Parts: sequence; structure tokens; C-alpha cells
Amino acid sequence: MAHIIVVGNEKGGSGKSTTSMHVATALARMGHRVAALDLDIRQRSFGRYLENRAHFIETEGLSLPLPMLGALNAASPNETDPLSEAMSELDPVHDFILIDCPGSHTRLAQMAHMLADTLITPMNDSFIDFDLLARLAPDGKVLGPSIYSEMVWGARQGRQAAGAGPIDWVVLRNRLGTQAMHNKRKVGSALTQLSKRIGFRVAPGFAERVVFRELFPRGLTLLDLKDVGGETLNMSNIAARQELRDLITTLNLPGVKVDF
Ligand SMILES: Nc1ncnc2c1ncn2[C@@H]1O[C@H](COP(=O)(O)OP(=O)(O)O)[C@@H](O)[C@H]1O
Ligand SMILES: [Mg+2]
Repeated sequence: MAHIIVVGNEKGGSGKSTTSMHVATALARMGHRVAALDLDIRQRSFGRYLENRAHFIETEGLSLPLPMLGALNAASPNETDPLSEAMSELDPVHDFILIDCPGSHTRLAQMAHMLADTLITPMNDSFIDFDLLARLAPDGKVLGPSIYSEMVWGARQGRQAAGAGPIDWVVLRNRLGTQAMHNKRKVGSALTQLSKRIGFRVAPGFAERVVFRELFPRGLTLLDLKDVGGETLNMSNIAARQELRDLITTLNLPGVKVDF
């Protein structure tokens, strides 16, 4: 049975699709059989990222690992639940299924959270993003869980009732600035406080780096840069690679020994 990784947050622009692409590709590069599902049916950034990769590999004649993009067949007879149908096809022949969610509350996204063995929630280092996880008092005290955390709580209860294992929930801080140390510290300590209360782990995260915005048209990730021509590995890319390595290590996925 495949291990299911869901990347979710009801906030758009927090780095879900970028994270999905990097985690899926990292696992594929390490030799695991990886399938991908994009539940953001309108934007399809993750799906398009993978399609760009397939196209680039083909036109450049490269041999780069390519996670398999699964399809949601809305026109199927079983159309009320295209997700279960897609999963039952992908599950027996993959080690990991990576599901990217839209930045809003949808029924499909909610169902996907119930399937998550691992849930990754990327968030910008901002109290506006934090507000989807928990309500804070002006003095920074956590008042209680907020909409997204409540949805995850529901998914956890649903899994428990169905006899499925717990969700390992990892919150990932994305686009961390090299400045604004004060804000970074404040968000960090609020997250630590909250993590114990609602049960997630905090991953070190990604700094704000231009390279993340440049890779999409070719469908590349940080890890592929050394395999394509004309790319220099600068300090920023090397540091970003290390951040990705730290993330995969923190995820602690079954059968994964980080070797990149
Ligand atoms: N660490 C980062 N540094 C710089 N830009 C980033 C980083 N992570 C994501 N981005 C950019 O932020 C935007 C939103 O990211 P995306 O992965 O599409 O988020 P989501 O899927 O949550 O909406 C994109 O333009 C992406 O290239
Ligand atoms: Mg997205």
C-alpha cells in the first residue's frame, strides 16, 4: 500500500504546489515509485509543473525521474467520488502518492485530508497565514484552533473512527526572510506553542529564493539543476538543497533514506 502525503492549507500562495513538486521529485529521484494528484482543478499548478517536466525531458532528451500524474475522472460513472477511484488505481503500484490541494475549502480537499498518512502544511511566515491555524490574542497568546486546524481535527477523528492510522502533520515555514528577525521569532514561538496544543511538528522550512520561481517552465526542481546544462550551482541553490534535504529528513517517511 502506498504512503499518502497530502499538501494542504486553505491559504493560496503558501507554497503548496512548489512543495508538492519538490517532495514528489525528491522521492522519485531516490528510486521510489511516486504518483501525483492535483486537486486544484482550476489552477492545476502541480499538474502543469509535471507536464512541463515531461515536455522538457522529451524535447531535451534527458533522463530525469518523473512522478506519474494521475487523473481525476469527473465523468466516470462513480462521479460522486473521483478521488477514491483515482486512489484505488494508483495505490497498488506506487510507494507514495502525493496530493496537492487547492488554497480553499473543497469537498475533494477535505476527503484528501482523511487519506493523509503525512500532511504537510506550508505557510508564509506571517500572522495572516497563522490565523488559519489558530486565533491569537493581541499579546500573542493562542486562544484556540481556527478553521483549517478544525478541518484537520475532523479528518483525524474520521480516520480514527475508520481504524486508519494517525496523521503525521508537519507545518512548514516557507519564504522565510533573511530580515525581519523579530517577526520570524514571534511566528516561530507562536507555532511552537500551538504545535503542542493541536498536534503538529514544525519543519525548518524554505527561505525566500528566486530559484523557486524560475524552475516551473522547465518542470525542474532544485535537485535537477546539476543534471541540466547551463546551470551554475550558486550558494543560494546549495543552501536551498540543504533545506529540502532537511525537510525530507524531518518527514521521516517509511523506507526513505535521504541520499541527495
Ligand atoms: N521559498 C520560496 N521562495 C520564493 N518564491 C516562492 C517560494 N515558495 C513559493 N514561491 C512562489 O510563491 C508563489 C506561490 O507558490 P505556490 O507553490 O504556487 O503556492 P500555492 O500552491 O500554495 O498556492 C509562486 O509564485 C512560487 O513560485
Ligand atoms: Mg497550488
